[in-house]
Amino acid sequence: MASSDRNLDPRQRLAVALDYPDAEAALRLVDSLDNTCQWFKVGMELYYAAGNHFVHLLRNRGFDVFLDLKLYDIPNTVAGAVRSVTQSGASLLTIHASGGAAMMTAAAEAAKAPGSPRLLAVTVLTSMDATELTGIGITASPADQVLRLAKLAKQSGIEGMVCSAEEVAAVRAATGPETLLVIPGIRPAGSAIGDQKRIATPADAIANGASLLVVGRPITRATDPAAATHAILTEIEEQLACGSKK
Ligand code: C5P
Repeated sequence: MASSDRNLDPRQRLAVALDYPDAEAALRLVDSLDNTCQWFKVGMELYYAAGNHFVHLLRNRGFDVFLDLKLYDIPNTVAGAVRSVTQSGASLLTIHASGGAAMMTAAAEAAKAPGSPRLLAVTVLTSMDATELTGIGITASPADQVLRLAKLAKQSGIEGMVCSAEEVAAVRAATGPETLLVIPGIRPAGSAIGDQKRIATPADAIANGASLLVVGRPITRATDPAAATHAILTEIEEQLACGSKK
């Protein structure tokens, strides 16, 4: 388990986002990577199409599953959803920190049951910048809003957070070395940015204190996904080696 920023195995520091419309397409990508990755992220697109069956399939093949459902509802409903997800075998599950302290506390309580996934609080989506935040009435900067939500998540008993590489150092400093900090918006040098706004290279995200990097399109839309994955794992490994010498 990528439990902190100190795990030196690059395979424990990368989750490939399987944003596909069906199990067949997702499995083609999984097979093409030939066991070079340990973690796969199953998000809404694939989960709504393929469900727990697909999560079990990944588990049976020995992979760890990060279920990115970004739960956001009243406390009672989110707690129930956390209990239902326990059946899936996923190791990580996301909820939205903006659901508030009562919602996160209820989720954390539900996740105390044996076999439950560890919870991650999504702070501010990496596709949002200051202008987008203002559009929904939040005048704080993305950095301030992320820090506020990360601290609230921690106080509510949530063990990990999702933020961008731009905020990870500040969140690490505020939440401690054991907090699981998961970073999407990863773009190797030269790759297409797409809809993401707060981005960083794999090396920079690791250098700033990320526990686990989430990479989707730079791998899934690459002409050679295995080569793209290999390059990212190498970049992570080199950065980890460099950091461990400091
Ligand atoms: O394709 P790309 O690398 O941009 O994919 C990033 C993945 O991380 C997507 O599956 C997206 O749902 C997820 N994610 C994100 N920003 C967050 C939380 C999750 O991009 N704050």
